[in-house]
Amino acid sequence: MSSKATGSITVTMEGSNKSAKLPLLGGTLGPQVADIRKLYGELGIFTYDPGYGATASCESTITYIDGDEGVLLYRGYPIEQLAEQSSFLEVAYLLLNGELPNKAQYAEFDKGVTRHTMLHEQLRRFFEGFRRDAHPMAVMCGVVGAMAAFYHDNLDINDPEQRRIAAFRLIAKVPTIAAWAYKYSVGQPLVYPRNDLSYAENFLYMLNGVPAEPWVNNPILSRAMDRILILHADHEQNASTSTVRLAGSTGANPFACIAAGIAALWGPAHGGANEAVLKMLAEIGSPENIPQFISEVKDKNSHTKLMGFGHRVYKNFDPRAKIMKETCHEVLAELGIKDEPLLDMAMEMERIALSDDYFISRKLYPNVDFYSGIILKAMGIPTSMFTVLFAVARTVGWVSQWKELIEDPSQRIGRPRQIYTGAPARDFVAMDKRG
Ligand code: CMC
Repeated sequence: MSSKATGSITVTMEGSNKSAKLPLLGGTLGPQVADIRKLYGELGIFTYDPGYGATASCESTITYIDGDEGVLLYRGYPIEQLAEQSSFLEVAYLLLNGELPNKAQYAEFDKGVTRHTMLHEQLRRFFEGFRRDAHPMAVMCGVVGAMAAFYHDNLDINDPEQRRIAAFRLIAKVPTIAAWAYKYSVGQPLVYPRNDLSYAENFLYMLNGVPAEPWVNNPILSRAMDRILILHADHEQNASTSTVRLAGSTGANPFACIAAGIAALWGPAHGGANEAVLKMLAEIGSPENIPQFISEVKDKNSHTKLMGFGHRVYKNFDPRAKIMKETCHEVLAELGIKDEPLLDMAMEMERIALSDDYFISRKLYPNVDFYSGIILKAMGIPTSMFTVLFAVARTVGWVSQWKELIEDPSQRIGRPRQIYTGAPARDFVAMDKRG
């Protein structure tokens, strides 16, 4: 499905008689978009949009967000329905292929993913090259990037079959890499994947299993993990996805592109926020310190942010945060945790923030990361693995967006422009003549 012309706007340069008529384009949902491609040719001007908050960088059929209404759709299906009724692998199929699979398609897809879960045995040695106290996101960037050195039989991005295999390899192997990064950091034996388990179960098994005793699946916890993976699977053109697309636009191989996405996700303003929320709650210490913390957040000079709050697109409740909060209560109940001080603090923080004019006027609501850390902590996942888990889930989204980019005949190398504010042209001065 392509965008359609819906009209035009005319841009007139004040103080001159020059103007340009720009087409307006419309997608299935969302606002109209002015197509500015001819603006420079006609008026000799660029557009300025730091952070790309007002710029559509591509056409996409994968994910839709209505930030004012708090709506998130994967291929048209509401996130709430997918989180409730679907499974992560089914969502992965949907994101990659555009439609929900029938039974035969699902069985084939499941087989395709599970038969790629093992890593090349030599990749194992990479883990030993890292310090044990390395952040697992550093290990993820390194090992995922290194996959290009091991799987070069599917690096031809112009061959659809090679793209398909690369997609399977990435989706299947990323949990193994993530779990091994963790196991290595705690000095436990690396656990090989089990293809008789579901995607989420296998991930929990590789994280928590040890050879000394049988691993027992807790269906509530593996369902919670599956749901967390679904909620994080894609989120249209966010920073890491745009990074993947930008890298992909150069013709770089998929493993390099996904490694770039992992690097972008690591930052605390993006995927690193779930880890930062727990750090923040631990630093605040107890509910009576919340008002002091909130005043620090509101102080322009402090640079303190309320982590897990705010979003570039959502100016209403992040729909993923609502589901996360429910899942959080379910998981704590299942684990018999009646009193979790971090959850109590998070709920108190949410209550105070949502009644404070600073947050109300800026439309700052809890985002997906506000409650996810508490669930993961309760499930025994170490804090340093939170962003890694986000990367495992988002790999599906990145791969789907990368595939869409490569298959889009209108795609060109990504190359933004700038407003140059440096020195004007000047002559070189020899060193002995400089002041
Ligand atoms: N705490 C306090 N003030 C905030 C926050 C926050 N978390 N988020 C935004 N603001 C303020 C910001 O200072 C600005 O105030 P003013 O108008 O007075 O200058 C106003 O709200 C508008 O914010 P912005 O910085 O223009 O918003 P943005 O779209 O550039 O940033 C964000 C979005 C997510 C980076 C930001 O809200 C933030 O840093 N939040 C905390 C980190 C976080 O939770 N990130 C996870 C995002 S969801 C998962 C993901 O997609 O990765």
